[in-house]
Amino acid sequence: MISLAGALLLITPFSPSLFDTCLSGSYYGNYNDGQTTNSVFLPEAACLDSWSAEALAPSASIAEATQGYQQLVWVEQKAVESSLLAATRSEFDAFLEILSEHRHVERDQEVLYVPEDKMGYELLHRTPTAALLAVSHSTARSIDTLLPPFWKSVLVPAAPVDFIPVPADAVKHVKHVLSTLKFDPEIAGIVESISLPQMVNDIRFLTGEDESGIMSRHSFSEGSRTASKWLKARFEDTGATCELQPFLAGFAPNVVCTYPSTVPTNATVLLSAHYDSRGSFGSTRAPGGDDDGSGTISILAIARTIARKGIKFQSNVQIIAFAGEEQGLLGSKAYARKMREQNAEITVMIQADMLAYHVPDEPPQLGLPATIGTPEVTQLVANVSALYSPELRVGYTAACCSDHQSFHEQGFPATQVFERAGPIADPMYHNSGDLSDREGYDFQQVKSIAKVQLATLLHSAGYELSQ
Ligand SMILES: *[C@@H]1O[C@H](CO)[C@@H](O)[C@H](O)[C@H]1NC(C)=O
Ligand SMILES: *[C@@H]1O[C@H](CO)[C@@H](O)[C@H](O)[C@H]1NC(C)=O
Ligand SMILES: [Zn+2]
Repeated sequence: MISLAGALLLITPFSPSLFDTCLSGSYYGNYNDGQTTNSVFLPEAACLDSWSAEALAPSASIAEATQGYQQLVWVEQKAVESSLLAATRSEFDAFLEILSEHRHVERDQEVLYVPEDKMGYELLHRTPTAALLAVSHSTARSIDTLLPPFWKSVLVPAAPVDFIPVPADAVKHVKHVLSTLKFDPEIAGIVESISLPQMVNDIRFLTGEDESGIMSRHSFSEGSRTASKWLKARFEDTGATCELQPFLAGFAPNVVCTYPSTVPTNATVLLSAHYDSRGSFGSTRAPGGDDDGSGTISILAIARTIARKGIKFQSNVQIIAFAGEEQGLLGSKAYARKMREQNAEITVMIQADMLAYHVPDEPPQLGLPATIGTPEVTQLVANVSALYSPELRVGYTAACCSDHQSFHEQGFPATQVFERAGPIADPMYHNSGDLSDREGYDFQQVKSIAKVQLATLLHSAGYELSQ
């Protein structure tokens, strides 16, 4: 898209019935506002005219872009405990001011110079917890570093996307696993052997709390490259075949690791996390100990357990550490799109994002997505948790959405595991103080959730022990 001038936009609560109308070819994806899932369409004027005001949901909004910006960006306040939210409304206004002013943004010694003609924005939609902006390409590239702490940005794609519901057929396997699920003492023994001290070592490398020298794993940072190579090597140590897969110029790559199946099948179970991070505005330190170092060490702990126990799977298994999550799920979107193009047979996908934090006087928890995700996969994870990690209090969270959304949107059965049965409560969320050595960061909870991820993998892939 060269310029958005003259583009019409319809922002409306998501409904599958919209895709049976003239809107279907102008769909640009679903976006959350902390409460509901919204669909964005860029329809032809004639299509928009054919809708009567009554036919649209009361909260639908229509806008016309008039200025020559190139990139649409959805920004959203995450579902966060109200105690953490004081004054963020004015922080959002301050953010808009930064976008509009011709201001040099200083980050430590580095000055991010944004040329005058590249600044500014057009506000196309605004609710208390979300906004849709049109900005230049260069602003879009750095917008995540300018946002207030509990806000997140998602780049709207340059061309319409298909709406692909998860086909009933794709959920058959999960339903089968769910209906035959019962406690297996061998699986209990395997998942109990996940090493907590090793997870402590791993997170300290990724956050730079040890001597790794990693200051940040922001997708554009040097530290993210170091982390990607380290993760590839550690996963390879466990017998996986790994690749660094670049997806967009300037971004750190996805780390994609595969364990082959012992029987001929295209079925694939996928466990993932994102290893990129975000820090505080104005700081180059982004340790990402919880978000999402905790999910990253969980999948690494699972890989280490696969190797130690000599586990061979009766399905292909992929373990992936994504990058570009903080810029709008960019790494996983590229990967899920490729899997759809290859007509891949992903039977279960589970994203681990933020597993470590709970309010100090709360019990350990497991949060599952209330909206985006496949209900049967979410149910499977909940039931597996009851069997193997009964210490976790399981419930739903509105803190949507991580990389599982990319798979969900491509019609693959997917869900997420999260640290809390409620909104985000971590005061260090998207903060340069997101270290592992602090109050509320609970390695035991990370291990309990990793047990659930691994037990779900073992039940749904099928396995044998070679030792
Ligand atoms: C899963 O858990 C739910 C809620 O506890 C329960 O009602 C259901 O029977 C369980 N399903 C299976 C297959 O165990
Ligand atoms: C896997 O997919 C390929 C390509 O679609 C197909 O040719 C092959 O028969 C499939 N293998 C199995 C075991 O289903
Ligand atoms: Zn995250």
